Amino acid sequence: QESAAPAAALLAWYDRHRRHLPWRALPGEPVDPYRVWLSEIMLQQTTVKAVAPYFAAFLARWPTVADLAAAPVEEVMKAWAGLGYYSRARNLHACAIAVARDHDGRFPAEIAGLRALPGVGDYTAAAVGAIAFDLAAPVVDGNVERVVTRLEAVDEPLPGAKPLIRALVADMLDPTRPGDFAQAMMDLGATICTPRRPACALCSLRPFCAAAAEGSQEAYPKKAPK
Ligand code: ADE
Ligand code: SF4
Repeated sequence: QESAAPAAALLAWYDRHRRHLPWRALPGEPVDPYRVWLSEIMLQQTTVKAVAPYFAAFLARWPTVADLAAAPVEEVMKAWAGLGYYSRARNLHACAIAVARDHDGRFPAEIAGLRALPGVGDYTAAAVGAIAFDLAAPVVDGNVERVVTRLEAVDEPLPGAKPLIRALVADMLDPTRPGDFAQAMMDLGATICTPRRPACALCSLRPFCAAAAEGSQEAYPKKAPK
């Protein structure tokens, strides 16, 4: 790793300012991979605010992945109604069945095993791996792309810059706290390093940020012309 200082500054900020979200374990609490997976599937294309009541309802009704696997798929589809992108619900149920049947009800604790589950793509495998199992996987969503392209003044436009962004995140993350690092990046992107008028004066990464140094924050991420 080139430098641990940005990750340390970010994690110090996260330890004070982390958002209390229903699927997040409190510090010191054990993390339930089922909750992490369920929330990450729900949060794809859906806001934190919209997801919260659905997450609570699913957990109350199906407290474990085995309970969800045993439910009739029509009941799962009905409970999903309103969240949209219904292929997610179908894959959610298929994934629960795969975990219950093929993995004894326990989510695989490696990226390749997670990636092989129905509905689990590169992003979700990395997010569940990092948050539930503390695997040092680079977790890159749209928020993280914005933070990193600003931090490193990445001039290559999206989507071509994606491999570079993944490499930069892999280099930057704290291998002792990959789950907290991933969620800290998400929180920073959601609350400080916003698309318009980022709050650089409040940002723990300000001393390390190439875009902020030259006042060009809003120029990133660059997008390829259509
Ligand atoms: N968006 C996707 N995953 C998230 C998480 N774990 N915390 C906050 N926002 C998210
Ligand atoms: Fe984003 Fe500003 Fe922080 Fe740089 S200093 S990461 S542009 S909020």
